[in-house]
Amino acid sequence: MIDEVTILDKTFLVYITADQIQNRVNEIAKKLNISHNGKNPLFLVILNGSFIFASDLLKKISIDCEISFIKLASYFGTSSTGKITTMIGLSESLKGKDIIIIEDIIDTGRTMKNLLEILHDHNPHAITIVTLLFKKEALIENIKPDYVGFEVQDKFLVGYGLDYNSFGRNMENIYVLKED
Ligand code: IMP
Ligand code: MG
Repeated sequence: MIDEVTILDKTFLVYITADQIQNRVNEIAKKLNISHNGKNPLFLVILNGSFIFASDLLKKISIDCEISFIKLASYFGTSSTGKITTMIGLSESLKGKDIIIIEDIIDTGRTMKNLLEILHDHNPHAITIVTLLFKKEALIENIKPDYVGFEVQDKFLVGYGLDYNSFGRNMENIYVLKED
């Protein structure tokens, strides 16, 4: 395994391996298959960052479910701008549905807070938050994810869907920015 990669002008080190990710993704899927059995949940995949996580997770979901995609953005470079732009909105009705949000990472929690406000306006029955990564120390908003893949340090991560200035999403491991 290559444990150091360069993306644009920065060097990153392996932080979570593809095997570790797959094991955890399978564990979360098993829990969701139990907690949402019979509820016909609607999985809401937050693009772009969650596309690989969502793909791996949903392949292990065996209960009846709907899947939809929405796109939000709050990052530029390696720090959060705090400004959230909804790029692609919701098309279907969420009324009375059990929503399961699939997110790649919760950092300050601003994106999730903003998203929850938008979703609550659509009167869903319940909202469950699944995030692969949780930067607990960086959290500003009062957000409690229901399922967390890994609690991570407040450092910039890339790979497995996460990008650094649009690059690095395709890598199977998750990498952390190397400090000089
Ligand atoms: P928040 O609004 O500060 O919680 O940021 C959430 C969004 O910022 C995530 O959905 C990611 O798209 C992005 N993000 C946060 N931390 C990182 C990181 O370490 N690497 C890449 N993207 C990140
Ligand atoms: Mg994201």
